[in-house]
Amino acid sequence: MKNRINKIKELALKEMSEAKSLADLEKLRVKYLGRRSDLTNVLRGLKDLSKGERKEIGEMANKIKEEIESGIRNQESGIKKLKFSNIESREKIDTTYPGEKIKKGHLHPLTQVRYEIEEIFKSMGFLTVEGREVEDEFHNFDALNIPKDHPARDIWDTFWLKDGNLLQTHTSPMQIRFMKENKPPLRIIVPGRVFRYEASDATHESNFYQVEGLMVDESGKITVANFKSAMAEFMKSLFKREVKIRLRPSYFPFVEPGFEIDVSCPYCDGAGCRICKKTGWIEILGAGMVNQKVFTSVGFKKDKYEGFAFGFGLDRIAMIKYGVDDVRLFYSGDLRFLEQF
Ligand code: DAH
Repeated sequence: MKNRINKIKELALKEMSEAKSLADLEKLRVKYLGRRSDLTNVLRGLKDLSKGERKEIGEMANKIKEEIESGIRNQESGIKKLKFSNIESREKIDTTYPGEKIKKGHLHPLTQVRYEIEEIFKSMGFLTVEGREVEDEFHNFDALNIPKDHPARDIWDTFWLKDGNLLQTHTSPMQIRFMKENKPPLRIIVPGRVFRYEASDATHESNFYQVEGLMVDESGKITVANFKSAMAEFMKSLFKREVKIRLRPSYFPFVEPGFEIDVSCPYCDGAGCRICKKTGWIEILGAGMVNQKVFTSVGFKKDKYEGFAFGFGLDRIAMIKYGVDDVRLFYSGDLRFLEQF
C-alpha cells in the first residue's frame, strides 16, 4: 500500500513539473485528486484497514494529497507569472508594420473622362482653356450669330439672371473670348459646365458638361477633311478601338456648313445593339466650319481665316463609354454607382 502511494506521488510530481499550461494542470488535478483518482480510492478504502494501518496509511495519503495540492498551486502561479513576464517583448508595437488599408476616394467618372479627353487633345496640340459659367448675352448668343428674336435661340432654353446675364447654355462663348485675345493659328478645347432650363429625364439634365473645340488657321490651311481625320483620331483614342465617322448636314448658326457627327457604335461595331438603339451609329457631336460672321464678330477680317469648331456633351460620352443608360446617375452621389469607376 505504501508503495502504491509513493508511486502516485512520484508520478504526480513528475507530471506536474512537466505541465506547461493551466489546462495541463487542471487535467492533473482531476487525474490525481479527482473523485476517481487512485489517491481518492486509497482514502476511500481506509475504512477496511486495520486500525493501526488506517492511521499510518491515512496520514501518509493525506500528506501526499496536500503535497500534490500545493504542488499544483505553486506550478499554477509559476505559469501565470510566466504568462505575463515577457508580455512587453511579445506584445510590443512594431511601428513599421503596414497599417490597415484605408478606403480611398477617387475621381468622379465625369472628371475621369474629362481628363482623358484633355489628354487626347493635348497630344494633338490643343490647349485646354476654361470659360465662365455666368456669361453675357453677347458671348453666349450675339457674337455666335444668334441674334435676338432669331428662332435658333429657342434651341437653348436659357436661365436668365436678374442682372441681364445668363448661365452659359453651351461652351461656345469661349470661342469668342479666346479669339478676342489670341490670333490664329489656334487650337483649343473648352470643357465647361452648362445650364439649360429644361426638365430632367434619363438623357437630359438641366446642368451638364460640354467640351468645345476650335481650330483656326489662315484660309486654305484647314479643310473638312482635316476636321474629319482629327475627329476620327479622337474617337479612336477615346473608345480605344477603330471606329468609323459619319458626317450629316445640320444647322448651327456659328458654323457653315454645319454637321452632326456620328460614330460607329463601339459596342457592336455597327451591327446594332441596345446602346446604339439598333442603328449601328451613335450621334456624338455638333460641328462645322466656323461661320465667317463669327470671325468678324471678334474683329477678324472676313475670309482671312478658316477653321472648324465642335461641341459635345461630356455626360453623353461618359454614358456611351461606360454603357450607362441614365445620365442622372452621374449626379446622384450614390456610392454604389460611383465605386464602379
Ligand atoms: N454649342 C452647341 C450646343 O450646345 C454644340 C456645337 C455645335 C458646338 C456645333 C460647336 C459647333 O462648336 O460647331 O448644342
